[in-house]
Amino acid sequence: MALAASLALATAGAVVAQNQEPIQPIVPPQQVNLGQVELGKKLYFDPRLSKSGFISCNSCHNLSMGGTDNIKTSIGDKWQQGPINAPTVLNSSLNLAQFWDGRASDLKAQAGGPIANPMLRT
Ligand code: HEC
Repeated sequence: MALAASLALATAGAVVAQNQEPIQPIVPPQQVNLGQVELGKKLYFDPRLSKSGFISCNSCHNLSMGGTDNIKTSIGDKWQQGPINAPTVLNSSLNLAQFWDGRASDLKAQAGGPIANPMLRT
């Protein structure tokens, strides 16, 4: 009886401790819209998103190079050297904040950033 009570207390304590951790286990997505996934993939690789028609997301966040361009600072419109290094996009949806300075709270807030920045505008 005493053993069962201590086990129950220990389990409850472990659950409380886990809930207080800043990093939580990843919850698998409940629903995936395959049409949206396909559209996202097409847009990611489409250079028509850039003014020049030459640069896609994959130019700076190359998925075959770990989601980055592997250069010190990214190259933008008219082959201008930008001021900032491109972080990887791999698992970026799980980041606590977006951009090096954390100015966007999530991917939705992040998405407008590069388009509004002339040094990153492509
Ligand atoms: C010209 C190069 C360039 C292109 C093109 C580009 N990015 Fe970025 N991206 C960057 C740089 C540089 C940063 C970091 C900016 C900062 O921290 O201020 C960044 C940041 C990000 C981040 C935040 C990641 C993190 O860890 O904070 C995401 C997500 C992202 N880009 C996705 C995209 C997507 C999606 C596209 C296409 C629509 C795109 N980027 C196009 C250079 C680029």
